[in-house]
Amino acid sequence: MEKRQLIVAGNWKMHKNYEEGRDLAKDIVERLQPTQVTVVLATPFIHLNSINNIIKDISNLKLGAQNCHQEESGAYTGEVSAGMLQSVGVRYVIIGHSERREYFEESDELLAKKVDAVLAKGMRPIFCCGEKLDVREAGKHLQLVEDQMKKALFHLKPEQFKEVVIAYEPVWAIGTGKTASPEQAQEMHAHIRSLIAKKYKDEIASLTTILYGGSVKPDNAKEIFAKPDVDGGLIGGASLKAEDFVAIVNSF
Ligand code: PGA
Repeated sequence: MEKRQLIVAGNWKMHKNYEEGRDLAKDIVERLQPTQVTVVLATPFIHLNSINNIIKDISNLKLGAQNCHQEESGAYTGEVSAGMLQSVGVRYVIIGHSERREYFEESDELLAKKVDAVLAKGMRPIFCCGEKLDVREAGKHLQLVEDQMKKALFHLKPEQFKEVVIAYEPVWAIGTGKTASPEQAQEMHAHIRSLIAKKYKDEIASLTTILYGGSVKPDNAKEIFAKPDVDGGLIGGASLKAEDFVAIVNSF
C-alpha cells in the first residue's frame, strides 16, 4: 500500500530579516541528513526567492508561504496572490493559521476560497484547524474542528482534496509551551481522519497527511510523532533555530 507522506513544516511567522533568513536556511541545509520526511520552510514573503535558490536542488526540502490572497490579481494593495507565490517556487501555502483567523478575521468561508486559489496554481494548502481553550473545556473541540473542515474543505472534489495537508493546532498550545498530550493529539487526528473517510473514501483518508502543531520541541516531538495518526508537525518557535528544527525532523 502507498504510504502516507511525513511532513515537518517550519512556520517562521514574522521573524528574520533578509540576511538572517538566508543564514537560517543555509544552516538547515547543512544539518539536514537524508530523510524520508518532506521538510517545508514557510517563510515571510521577502525571503521566498532567495531561499528558493538555496533549497531548490534538494528534493525533499520545499518552499512554503504563510498566506495568500484569494483573488488571482487586482487592486488589493499589500496582498500577494497564489500565482505570484507559485512563480517563485512555492509548493505549500499555510492557510487559516489561528493567528490569521484571530488577528485578520479570516473566516472558514474566506479560507475555502484561499484553498481553491492555492490548488488552482498546483500548490498544496496546509490547512490549519483547532480549538481555543474554552471550546476544549466545554468538550466541544471535536465538533469545532469538524465545522472548520466542512466549511473550508469539504466542497473540494476528491482529486483536489488529495493535495490538502491538514494541520491540527490547538490554539491554547501555540507559542505557550503547553503541548497537547500525545493522546489528545491522537484523538483529534483520528477524528479528522474519520471525517475525511466519511466524506471521501477510506483510501483518501488513509493517505492524508495530518500534522500536529503547538509548542513542538526537540524533547517532545518523538512521543507526539509516534502516535499512529500524527504524520508530522507544523513548527513555530523551534523552526527558528536550525539545530532544534532539524532535531524535530529527525524525531520519527
Ligand atoms: P509554536 O507555533 O510551535 O511556536 O507553538 C506553532 C504554529 O503556530 O504553527
